[in-house]
Amino acid sequence: MTPTDSISLPVPRKTGSSSLEETLSGRRSVRSFSKRPIPIAAVGQLLWAGQGVTAEGGRRTAPSAGGLFGLETYVACAEYLAHYLASSHELRVLRREDVRGELARAAWSQSFIRQAPLVVALTGVLKRIAGKYGEERGARYLAMEAGHAAQNILLQAEALGYASVPVGAFDDAALGEVLGLGVEEHTLYLLPIGIAASSCR
Ligand SMILES: Cc1cc2nc3c(=O)[nH]c(=O)nc-3n(C[C@H](O)[C@H](O)[C@H](O)COP(=O)(O)O)c2cc1C
Repeated sequence: MTPTDSISLPVPRKTGSSSLEETLSGRRSVRSFSKRPIPIAAVGQLLWAGQGVTAEGGRRTAPSAGGLFGLETYVACAEYLAHYLASSHELRVLRREDVRGELARAAWSQSFIRQAPLVVALTGVLKRIAGKYGEERGARYLAMEAGHAAQNILLQAEALGYASVPVGAFDDAALGEVLGLGVEEHTLYLLPIGIAASSCR
């Protein structure tokens, strides 16, 4: 058995310098990124914004239908693909390689996904919530939850000076293979994140 390969993330900040209103008016979808890597503190902050635990009982930054927490979060960068463990705020490394090209191919070759220094993937595990809400409504609730978490990440990115775009066009099976998902887990959103590339410097 190989020892667990994990990366602990710095404690997330609860204060910031831009107002919610400034952040909302600044958010824009961006599809061209500079190569500059995202520091680990900002990676942790972005993941915390999406699914960070903020209260006892595992309650998070984003609402969850019935508090059943059907979402999972993955991140890919130049060095690794990792799973975000919300309860301990750390990354569990799944593959020590750059899978961003594979993610881009699975998303119908949207090439900006390969260029972004960080790609966040939000997935849903239907069986966690289908017992209470049924499969049809459960799937709808998971999509809503992913929307909440994604918007938190998009706004946190904007507040930190990064840009992103929510990506929903991808081949489910191909993406599941890249992320190593079981049959019960499906990708709901991809969020490539980085500093917006400027066309003139
Ligand atoms: C559910 C959903 C799926 C989307 N999928 C993609 C996508 O696959 N590729 C892409 O480039 N943009 C995608 N977008 C981003 C939209 O194109 C973008 O939000 C829209 O053009 C409005 O621009 P704005 O975000 O700058 O306001 C998606 C947006 C949503 C809400």
